[in-house]
Amino acid sequence: MKQSDEQLFNPSQQVIDYANVKEYDNNYADSIANPLDFWEKQAETLEWTTKWDKVLDDSNPPFFKWFTGGKTNIILNAIDRHLKTANRNKLAIIWEGEPGDLRSFSYHALNREVCEFANILKAMGVKKGDIVTIYLPQIPEQLFAMLACAKIGAAHSVVYGGFSHEALADRINDANSRVVVTADGGFRRGKASNLKEIVNKALEHTPTVEVCITVKRTGVDVFMENDRDYWFHDLKSLPIAAAQCETEIMDAEDMLFILYTSGSTGKPKGLVHTHGGYSVYTATTHKMAFDIKPEDRWWCAADPGWITGHSYIVYSPLINGATIFLYEGAPNHPYPNRWWKMIEKYGINILYTSPTAIRGLMRYGESWPNKHDLSSLRLLGSVGEPINPEAWKWYYKVIGKEKCPIIDTWWQTETGGFIICPIPALPLKPGSATKPFFGIEVDVVTDTGEKTPVDEEGNLVIKTPWPGMARTVYQDPDRFKELYWQKYEQQGWYHSGDAARIDEDGYYWIIGRTDDVIKVSGYRLGSAEIESALMSHPAIAESAAIGLPHALKGYAIHCYVVLRKGYEPSPALEKELREHVGEMMGAIARPEEVAFIDVLPKTRSGKIMRRVLKAQALGQDIGDLSTLEE
Ligand code: WT7
Repeated sequence: MKQSDEQLFNPSQQVIDYANVKEYDNNYADSIANPLDFWEKQAETLEWTTKWDKVLDDSNPPFFKWFTGGKTNIILNAIDRHLKTANRNKLAIIWEGEPGDLRSFSYHALNREVCEFANILKAMGVKKGDIVTIYLPQIPEQLFAMLACAKIGAAHSVVYGGFSHEALADRINDANSRVVVTADGGFRRGKASNLKEIVNKALEHTPTVEVCITVKRTGVDVFMENDRDYWFHDLKSLPIAAAQCETEIMDAEDMLFILYTSGSTGKPKGLVHTHGGYSVYTATTHKMAFDIKPEDRWWCAADPGWITGHSYIVYSPLINGATIFLYEGAPNHPYPNRWWKMIEKYGINILYTSPTAIRGLMRYGESWPNKHDLSSLRLLGSVGEPINPEAWKWYYKVIGKEKCPIIDTWWQTETGGFIICPIPALPLKPGSATKPFFGIEVDVVTDTGEKTPVDEEGNLVIKTPWPGMARTVYQDPDRFKELYWQKYEQQGWYHSGDAARIDEDGYYWIIGRTDDVIKVSGYRLGSAEIESALMSHPAIAESAAIGLPHALKGYAIHCYVVLRKGYEPSPALEKELREHVGEMMGAIARPEEVAFIDVLPKTRSGKIMRRVLKAQALGQDIGDLSTLEE
């Protein structure tokens, strides 16, 4: 199983001299000798209105609580404290729209925008504890809306703007949102999307929604319903949008947001994150792994609609007082040099993106990045899926000019922040996320919990609690227990659902999901959701969805369907089914292929054996078939 190429890439002395943390091994050993001291020290760097009584309350595992008794609000740290320092006049956000329009906000201006938004939400009846659904393109208002919710103690549920109206309606209903924030659309590849139309369709099936606030971005015609729909700019021009707003003081464990993600079964689940522990965890991981300095211009090229965006576009960079760069559109619009051009133009210091994006840009060749001065770059990051050594090396050489360490970060929606990642001072191996972050213990174990031998594949587990961990699945604590904690209940470990191996130097190599979660271009999708989308088509009697390796996307979705009587396989029907899934779930879920078959492999109890389909498609040994029905 060993990767053929395990060349070490050592950081330069310059990188080490400059780094916030200059050495890994001793610091790691110290941090896990007394993790609660480590986390307490980190928490002390943040602002609290009341100090915690207890760093960790582990009296009711797996429902761990952090900094109990402590009071704060993530906004106290992300915005308010900067207003009292020279950061006030520093740029918090630089945003470039796809058509080339530019907006920027100092911390002072950001505060004003967030206060106005917060007051509008209050005027619309949003109260502490409510959940506001946000469905926006990548425009500054997406951040303002999230921060405004946090400020008044409401939780946000951000739904990625690429999701369909069905997916949006499901999430609004699960969260019981009264208020939805959206836009008329956004720009992508030169075209205006029509988000509001999607929202209007969703709102036909969401009885709890009373108010929908729409930001004008594209100017396309949209339908606005009386007494439900309000233009954001109209509300902003009213006295209700006052420029001052008190930050609501929250308990450390109060809910900051829920974020839906796909699992191996059923509907997406809303993971709950909190004000206290999440602030500490995201700020610490960001500061140490990405070596953040106050003068940095930081670009996390994800969408704020995913956990990467929540933790590392919005919250941690603001807590650390960095300048966030944000871009609305496609990386190759109008030409494949768009990203490199913006890095040069704005002097970006750190770029954090996904292997899929890197592979996509790599396709266009070196000449595009080579047209630009990328010397402002100091560090590069990768997230979402394993990065293949070829893409790693291209990123390292062509973009980083062999001077920028690559920070490959393994984590999940559930973990809130990085779990396995290097610090810049650690030697790197292309394709390895390297070693556990400070203050947490991670391991690779067998199904029964024994440590796997060196280089042997096993289940990746987290053995100790950490402040950024999700607290529960919204309104479904049993599911939280069952999904993540049941497998290693005796040991009390968190089961990640990923397979990995540890090499002789203690470096972790992530292999991929062991459950029915498929990572397509770094996006997380569940087989069960894709299958249920297929089943909603009248032609389909039974279906199975699996992920097969894809050169650009990491994995692509392949479906197998059994047709109902009266339907015949045809290329036209295949196309229709692919479109149908895309429409039901959003474009990212559109299958690569839908194959027609007569029967699906099933266990005697009727469970579809996806692994059999997968092994067959890959020409691999099908393995133990003793439970196969026929
Ligand atoms: C799954 C979590 C965490 C932010 C984005 C994804 C895969 C994530 C890496 C990495 C290999 C990775 C895992 C994980 N994954 N980062 N650096 N190397 N695999 O969050 O949507 O919750 O997905 O993404 O399979 O379980 P997510």
